[in-house]
Amino acid sequence: RRANTTTKFKKMKESGIPISMITAYDYPSALLAEEAGIDAILVGDSLGNVVLGYESTIPVTIEDMIYHTRSVVRAATSTFVVTDLPFMTYHGSTDMTLRNAARIMQEGLATAVKMEGGLEIIESVQACTRAGIPVMGHIGLTPQSIHQIGGYKIQGKSSEQANRLIEEAKGLEQAGAFAIVLELVTEELAAYITEQLSIPTIGIGAGPRCDGQVLVFHDAMGYGSDIAPKKFVKAYADIGNDIRSGLKQYVAEVKARSFPTQEQAFHMDDVLAAGLYG
Ligand code: KIV
Ligand code: NA
Repeated sequence: RRANTTTKFKKMKESGIPISMITAYDYPSALLAEEAGIDAILVGDSLGNVVLGYESTIPVTIEDMIYHTRSVVRAATSTFVVTDLPFMTYHGSTDMTLRNAARIMQEGLATAVKMEGGLEIIESVQACTRAGIPVMGHIGLTPQSIHQIGGYKIQGKSSEQANRLIEEAKGLEQAGAFAIVLELVTEELAAYITEQLSIPTIGIGAGPRCDGQVLVFHDAMGYGSDIAPKKFVKAYADIGNDIRSGLKQYVAEVKARSFPTQEQAFHMDDVLAAGLYG
């Protein structure tokens, strides 16, 4: 049984209890996130960047999302798991959106889906929530539109843009979204939107006054050597360097024949005596 529900997240907002969320894309990371007591796991299409090595999230397919969600839910058996609908899987007909969202739920076994965008996806959000599929919104910097936005920059800087984001947040709430990710907006705008909504906001690069926070696992854990440090990220671990030095030592020990030693070796007499290994 999954501990958190969409109503629980809303209650957390009402009680002022921050919601912690992290991405995970595979069995070990999901297992560790659940062990750490995370409130929700996001199987983000950021896996395109940090796991698959693409330059953006655009090449990520629904099959990629299903495959990774399945490995996450096998580990995180009691955590709320949100999976991103990837590029162009919720912009055609309502039928197509529902089919894709249903695949994430039935084949991926996610608890909810996330969609990027504002007023243009309202119908998709409504259709899914009517069908019983919880939807998390995502506005501000929306990486699937990176070529239209023209770069990784702070959103909602003009009052016109800020008003549009406020309208989008309200529209998504009305359409039935249970929470909204705010990405790369100023603290002031994020705080205002958070006050205006009854559903929780989950910030990334949106300052401390959101109802919750989300980070990309690899950024937060320092996993991967080509990740440029970002102002809004805090690295809570340095596992990339741990792995780097571990791998170097492994290579060196194999070359020097100092691994394996007798400690890791099997001997015929012992094996036969114990009746092990046939
Ligand atoms: O894909 C992702 O990791 C996300 C978060 C950055 C919110 O959408
Ligand atoms: Na995403």
